[in-house]
Amino acid sequence: MKTDENLKVAFEGECKAYMKYNAFARAAEKEGQRQIAKLFRAIAEAEKIHALNHFTVMGESGKVEQNTTSAIDGETYEFTQMYPAFIRQAEQDSHSRAAASFRGASAVEKIHGGLLSDALASLGRSKEEDYYVCTICGNTVRGAMPDKCSVCRATSDKFRLVE
Ligand code: FE2
Ligand code: FE2
Ligand code: FE2
Repeated sequence: MKTDENLKVAFEGECKAYMKYNAFARAAEKEGQRQIAKLFRAIAEAEKIHALNHFTVMGESGKVEQNTTSAIDGETYEFTQMYPAFIRQAEQDSHSRAAASFRGASAVEKIHGGLLSDALASLGRSKEEDYYVCTICGNTVRGAMPDKCSVCRATSDKFRLVE
């Protein structure tokens, strides 16, 4: 059905809009434009809701175990194939900022794969623990807030507790 394809297109468009508007909000903050930054963040939140609504209709969020396996596959593909290839290409192209961005993400995707594998292994019987995310590189840490980011070396104040 054409509508199934349209749902996919709409989901991807809303996801992109969510990220783009958050990036625009950051840029606006940098220019000291607080009000428009806030508007970009508000609209980004709305686009996120649209994306989640479409995804629900698509029926692609299965059971937790299946979702965790799917997430492990995605993260593994990224840090074993996609990012290594992108890093090599960026180096060939002498695009050092892209290479650094890919390298940082790849290191974190590997950590994500590990966290998800641990979670899968103890599904339903794991104790509740906190997760912190590095706002510089996305490093994701279970348990206590680290003193320093093991990926980008940012200090602990750059970490945010995830609710
Ligand atoms: Fe939208
Ligand atoms: Fe990831
Ligand atoms: Fe970091």
